[in-house]
Amino acid sequence: MPAIIILGAQWGDEGKGKATDQLGARADYVVKYNGGNNAGHTVVIGENTFALHLLPSGILSPGCVPVIGNGVVVDLDVLFQEVDELEARGIDTSRLRISANAHIITPYGRALDRLSERSLGSRKIGTTGRGIGPSYADKASRVGIRIQDLFDESILRQKISSALTSKNGMLTKVYGEEAVDAQAVADQLLEYTERIRPMVADTSLEINQALDAGKTVVFEGGQSTMLDIDHGTYPYVTSSNATAGGACTGSGVGPTRISRVVGIVKAYVTRVGEGPFPTELLDDAGRWLREHGGEYGVTTGRPRRCGWYDAPVARYSSRINGLTDLVLTKLDVLGGLETIPVCVAYMIEGKRVDEVPVSQSDFHHAQPVYEHLPGWHDDISGCRTFDELPEAARNYVLYLEEISGCRISVIGVGADREQTIVRRDLLQ
Ligand code: GDP
Ligand code: IMO
Ligand code: MG
Repeated sequence: MPAIIILGAQWGDEGKGKATDQLGARADYVVKYNGGNNAGHTVVIGENTFALHLLPSGILSPGCVPVIGNGVVVDLDVLFQEVDELEARGIDTSRLRISANAHIITPYGRALDRLSERSLGSRKIGTTGRGIGPSYADKASRVGIRIQDLFDESILRQKISSALTSKNGMLTKVYGEEAVDAQAVADQLLEYTERIRPMVADTSLEINQALDAGKTVVFEGGQSTMLDIDHGTYPYVTSSNATAGGACTGSGVGPTRISRVVGIVKAYVTRVGEGPFPTELLDDAGRWLREHGGEYGVTTGRPRRCGWYDAPVARYSSRINGLTDLVLTKLDVLGGLETIPVCVAYMIEGKRVDEVPVSQSDFHHAQPVYEHLPGWHDDISGCRTFDELPEAARNYVLYLEEISGCRISVIGVGADREQTIVRRDLLQ
């Protein structure tokens, strides 16, 4: 039975929330495996728009169990804020499961994220300021606080005290800030213990048992391939593995159980924060894409950087993740252009390069090589089959499919659940 990974194949905000919600409505479990509330996943159902940060998109489907896997970092304030907001809108959140092994974003993690960005000045990453990097750094340094620590007060207090030994030195001596009181942090976190207790589980065991029982499990990635800590444009990345391997380590499910890996690509490209972006448009065309596509961050409200479709990035994602399918989103946004440039390769120091270069400096200097495809003027947001699309739009899709190294199985023509063209069912 299907275990399907849904992940971003560009720099984030491709429309993972919509794709996950669509499958989530037919899935038994939706598991978030990486990141935290740096993510902003939008789901539009009729008149209702939901912006989810920490909660898996499956929370919106009544028949589905949403799971926060061990690979996620959890800000408890944000978790319960989101739960309360959804409950106030009539969404039942009682099925939510949270891994006992997931790490907690602490108040000092949040503070250090902002302070480190400030001290980097012009070399900053442009993080979301949610404490993501410091929390994964603590995890790797083995001084992280886990959800299960909430159930052993003395261990929790001891762990926070020892983590703060070095961090207070950093806060006071490096950044000139006040020291943080370990007991106050522990008191703050412990306030959530009883509320979270019924949600906490051995989620790896539950997901594997669900797969054994023939259930359908969707793994929802946060961020994207090009923001992956190992495979992205380091150091301009997030601090987790957003790529397919992260779905296994971040949920406790073995790679042999995965049946499909679906990459989400926008019909153009956006990026938030700093870092290389070869097809970025700093002119009117970029502004046109931003306004037509509504390209403003769901989490921070920052204007997204916009550029044309980058086929080497799509091929790279296809390779790194072993993609079986692509979902192409926001095709409707491109309507009205005479021609649409598509980046097929790069020029780097006078040489044509067909793949994403391994050297970060080369990638910084990469100049896009464009093919220009005819555009279309019709409004395609009402199309529900591939054949209903205007010929130029069909040709654009077929061209992207040919040069992206993976078949395009689903096409988005609007933000609503229904505004979708399915060429191949992802659950079969
Ligand atoms: P995510 O982080 O990958 O889930 O994506 P975001 O929610 O941050 O950004 C995607 C935006 O595009 C959201 O506002 C979605 O509602 C919207 N969206 C998704 N698919 C489509 C589509 O096919 N067409 C249009 N016009 N909007 C879409
Ligand atoms: P979704 O899941 C787009 C970017 C930030 C910054 C870098 C590191 O909605 O696609 P972090 O706070 O993670 O340490 O920031 O990663 N970033 C995202 N960009 N979409 C996201 O999530 C992002 N999550 C983080 O802008 O450049
Ligand atoms: Mg987003």
